[in-house]
Amino acid sequence: MKESSNDESLGLGLKPGDSHYRAYVGPPEDFDLIAATTFNLLTTLGLRQQHSLLDVGCGSLRIGRLLIPYLNKGKYFGIEPNEWLVKEGIKREIGETLVQIKDPTFFFSDSPTTLSRAGVRFDFAVAQSIFSHCGLDLIAQWLSGISQSLVETGALVATFLPSEQDSTRTGWIYPECVNFRLSTLENLATEANLRFEVLNWKHPRQQWALFAKPKFNAEWFSGAIHAIKP
Ligand SMILES: C[S@@+](CC[C@H](N)C(=O)[O-])C[C@H]1O[C@@H](n2cnc3c(N)ncnc32)[C@H](O)[C@@H]1O
Repeated sequence: MKESSNDESLGLGLKPGDSHYRAYVGPPEDFDLIAATTFNLLTTLGLRQQHSLLDVGCGSLRIGRLLIPYLNKGKYFGIEPNEWLVKEGIKREIGETLVQIKDPTFFFSDSPTTLSRAGVRFDFAVAQSIFSHCGLDLIAQWLSGISQSLVETGALVATFLPSEQDSTRTGWIYPECVNFRLSTLENLATEANLRFEVLNWKHPRQQWALFAKPKFNAEWFSGAIHAIKP
């Protein structure tokens, strides 16, 4: 039977990277779990409605579908090279009415330099399953661009795949994954003037880390999320 645009298509059984708006960004079986745990991490770290937030590689709004209604109007910013994913996310997850009410901003770009051109300052940034697909060259560029766009009390949370060895691949790698040593990521964070802490927070496959500006207030999570020594 032909699927109408109103039918819910969850993409269950498809592989990450397949051309379905949920499957393209990861295993469709975890679409809800990633959204819920990421949203809970951000709010536990202190994300409030008045904050501005950057969603790096926002894809099909898996996380945006929770953040956009939560944040005040005009406070959600997504950067994403694949415009079709954002369009599908709007059509299938949040609807045009919410876009009109909350006025999110989307930058259709794969380049960290877009951030400096946009001239927006963020309280929080999130990069879910982005550094697991970037070479160290691209991670360094994203950390530098994000750090310059964060307010002095701001922070980025990002996932990555830890390993004993650094991948030597460069640029964007997809849908394959790349792994890095904690100490390598800590060094890149330091170069970008960010404090690196590995976070004990649920994720089905990856590791969460905090990249905090010097004045980020960690009070909210001390005791709730134990930082692990890199
Ligand atoms: C694994 S998906 C994660 C999407 C989203 N963060 C989530 O958790 O649902 C990776 C996303 O990064 C986007 N992307 C592609 N090239 C990129 C680049 N150079 N930098 C950042 N993101 C990129 C992809 O289009 C895709 O939407």
